Amino acid sequence: MKFTTVFVATLFSAALALPRYIPRDSSFLKQNGEAAIALNNQFKSLTVNSSCTAGENACVNGEFAQCVNGAFVLTSCGTGEVCAALPLVNSEGTSITCATQAQVNSRIAATGATSASNATSSASPSNATSAPPCMSTLASASAVAIAPSSTAAASTANASDAQSSFTLLSSLVQTGFSQNGTEDSSPEPGEIASVTSTNNFINFCATVNLPLTNGTQVASGSCNPAPMGVMPNVNNTPTAKFVYPANLDTVKANTTFTVVLAIDHLDTGFFVNPATNYFAAPQMVNETTGNVMGHSHVVIERLTALNQTTPTNPTKFSFFKGLNDVAVNGTLSTVVTGGVPAGVYRLASINAAANHQPILASVAQHGAIDDMVYFMAE
Ligand SMILES: *[C@@H]1O[C@H](CO)[C@@H](O)[C@H](O)[C@H]1NC(C)=O
Ligand SMILES: *[C@@H]1O[C@H](CO)[C@@H](O)[C@H](O)[C@H]1NC(C)=O
Ligand SMILES: *[C@@H]1O[C@H](CO)[C@@H](O)[C@H](O)[C@H]1NC(C)=O
Ligand SMILES: *[C@@H]1O[C@H](CO)[C@@H](O)[C@H](O)[C@H]1NC(C)=O
Ligand SMILES: *[C@@H]1O[C@H](CO)[C@@H](O)[C@H](O)[C@H]1NC(C)=O
Ligand SMILES: *[C@@H]1O[C@H](CO)[C@@H](O)[C@H](O)[C@H]1NC(C)=O
Ligand SMILES: *[C@@H]1O[C@H](CO)[C@@H](O)[C@H](O)[C@H]1NC(C)=O
Ligand SMILES: *[C@@H]1O[C@H](CO)[C@@H](O)[C@H](O)[C@H]1NC(C)=O
Ligand SMILES: *[C@@H]1O[C@H](CO)[C@@H](O)[C@H](O)[C@H]1NC(C)=O
Ligand SMILES: *[C@@H]1O[C@H](CO)[C@@H](O)[C@H](O)[C@H]1NC(C)=O
Repeated sequence: MKFTTVFVATLFSAALALPRYIPRDSSFLKQNGEAAIALNNQFKSLTVNSSCTAGENACVNGEFAQCVNGAFVLTSCGTGEVCAALPLVNSEGTSITCATQAQVNSRIAATGATSASNATSSASPSNATSAPPCMSTLASASAVAIAPSSTAAASTANASDAQSSFTLLSSLVQTGFSQNGTEDSSPEPGEIASVTSTNNFINFCATVNLPLTNGTQVASGSCNPAPMGVMPNVNNTPTAKFVYPANLDTVKANTTFTVVLAIDHLDTGFFVNPATNYFAAPQMVNETTGNVMGHSHVVIERLTALNQTTPTNPTKFSFFKGLNDVAVNGTLSTVVTGGVPAGVYRLASINAAANHQPILASVAQHGAIDDMVYFMAE
């Protein structure tokens, strides 16, 4: 699926400055320009055989270079593009990205910089400038860049290029994300300022000390840079109800039974490899039906009593099954072979998009997307 390539691209950028507010003062612009010139000069001396430090990004022979196990791995830029260091526009520093030579030139020229900065004196505003090629500090100021809005990169890039490009299209920058929300004159009591970003949080995971999710189920926790994807129309919010066992039904203990889940507004039968593609692509919607493309799961947990009031332990359950088939007559079903021992149980659906992420709805206020019923086995 084409959409995935752009996320893979974000995984490569191992380190980046934290999301920053747009500063009022832009005195760093010229320094950024000089730093970019210095970096581009340094890149000229690099070859594919240059040693490097893990996580470092650079440009080698006009290609985007990432350091893996002490050696550069090169990725070609798009047709007509070269890899280059560009001055950041909204904050101190530089980014390493693919762009046309004209974009590189105009972005640097716009800063007023005409020569490389003095490596020593420019060390303070940007780590990148002080770093000779192949030092780890180079990576700390390197980033996959936002396409410079002044150069209309967004309108020149076409969709197929965009899905393999390391550059965020300027048309996709969510400028709303740069507001922290407290500008609202009548906030709810206790409402806090949001974390903000001017680059769609594309490098957010560099701010936490966690492994990347990378398509796997990391039980100890991870950070996942994949976008959330398509939000369905509110009228396509999925909904479900258990047909069997229905709420407060009794099933025969230790006897096979079939769970039946009626489901509406979920296009079922879409599930990806959970071991390699977990949360690895955005939520998708079928353009014809308007429904999220996904699948469901059911989980049965044993309770101490019907009126149990203590939360359950989500790592312990009696039965779990993905419902991967296409719904028949509006229902999904699965056989609970051997049934469950005598007792009281809670049965829940876990509706999911194709890559197993929970369903996202277009509005906050909506009825439950999942169903939960209680049943006895005796
Ligand atoms: C890189 O190293 C390989 C193997 O030692 C060699 O064949 C190649 O010519 C080198 N390339 C450059 C650009 O130095
Ligand atoms: C660069 O910095 C060094 C050390 O601060 C200084 O000696 C040198 O004159 C500077 N060169 C230029 C061109 O500014
Ligand atoms: C440079 O990088 C170091 C280590 O990552 C960091 O502590 C320092 O604050 C950075 N300096 C600037 C000016 O960003
Ligand atoms: C879009 O990019 C693809 C791949 O580089 C290319 O084949 C195609 O011709 C481009 N289309 C336009 C309209 O530029
Ligand atoms: C939120 O943004 C406003 C306006 O930019 C700013 O004044 C305020 O300090 C910010 N609050 C926090 C907690 O960052
Ligand atoms: C991500 O997954 C790919 C494919 O399984 C693997 O080759 C790569 O090493 C993983 N990268 C990280 C950072 O875990
Ligand atoms: C989208 O839904 C329509 C109507 O049910 C169906 O014909 C089409 O195959 C679906 N598309 C995909 C990609 O599943
Ligand atoms: C649950 O119900 C039982 C009797 O059916 C009662 O003894 C017990 O106190 C109830 N527990 C709670 C937490 O309400
Ligand atoms: C589909 O559901 C309807 C109403 O629940 C039922 O009457 C009908 O027999 C079902 N058809 C199949 C093929 O299960
Ligand atoms: C159900 O099976 C369990 C063992 O899995 C057993 O301990 C229990 O007595 C059985 N209960 C009934 C009602 O058959």
